[in-house]
Amino acid sequence: MAVHVLAISGSLRQDSHNTRLLRAAATLLPPGSELELWGALKDIPPFDEDDETGRPHIAVARLRAAVARADAILIATPEYNSSVPGQLKNGLDWLSRPYASNPLRGRPAAVIGASTGVFGAVWGQAETRKVLTAIGARTIDRELPIGSASEQFDETGRLLDGGVAAQLRDLLGELVQGARPAGRQVRLSTRHDNGQRGPVRVRRPAVR
Ligand code: FNR
Repeated sequence: MAVHVLAISGSLRQDSHNTRLLRAAATLLPPGSELELWGALKDIPPFDEDDETGRPHIAVARLRAAVARADAILIATPEYNSSVPGQLKNGLDWLSRPYASNPLRGRPAAVIGASTGVFGAVWGQAETRKVLTAIGARTIDRELPIGSASEQFDETGRLLDGGVAAQLRDLLGELVQGARPAGRQVRLSTRHDNGQRGPVRVRRPAVR
């Protein structure tokens, strides 16, 4: 079965560079994986502990279900005032509950980000990784800062810089690899004993 990656953009706006980045990511996934773009972050109500009793809001229930179905999470976020955009943080706060059995717990997660400034939302990404880790996700300890975002994509949404695309492909490979069940892990571009290059299956102990 394909490794299912749930992609969440931290930006709500229609023409978001971060949502565009997730669409570009969908074209750079390793074989045997697929990406679903979650587009309903705006529907999530403000977190209120008083609303935790009874049935959750339908948008919260759908987000929890989408995360629970996913094998891995990919977030692309802008940086707002040097931190995580409020609505993304709000969604993560809902996802963190109940703490002991929340759907992010133990799930592989990666964070990438784009901003119109030169620093590529590095602080927004770092803060998002910190929050994910606090919630219990298995967060990949790397970032992909894409600065000057309005100059980074062609009219079809493809990343113009081949080096950036290669970094994103590499990060996605690590994310998907971490989500594969033990025994189905694939090391790409590894040299076989016979000298040929190609995917090699390697067995590893279960990681979750
Ligand atoms: C920003 N922006 C921004 N950029 C940055 O590099 N560091 C920052 O701290 C901020 N802060 C910030 C706050 C608010 C409220 C807004 C609206 C914007 C600029 C931001 O990077 C730019 O608007 C991106 O284009 C937002 O991402 P999307 O919507 O294109 O995905």
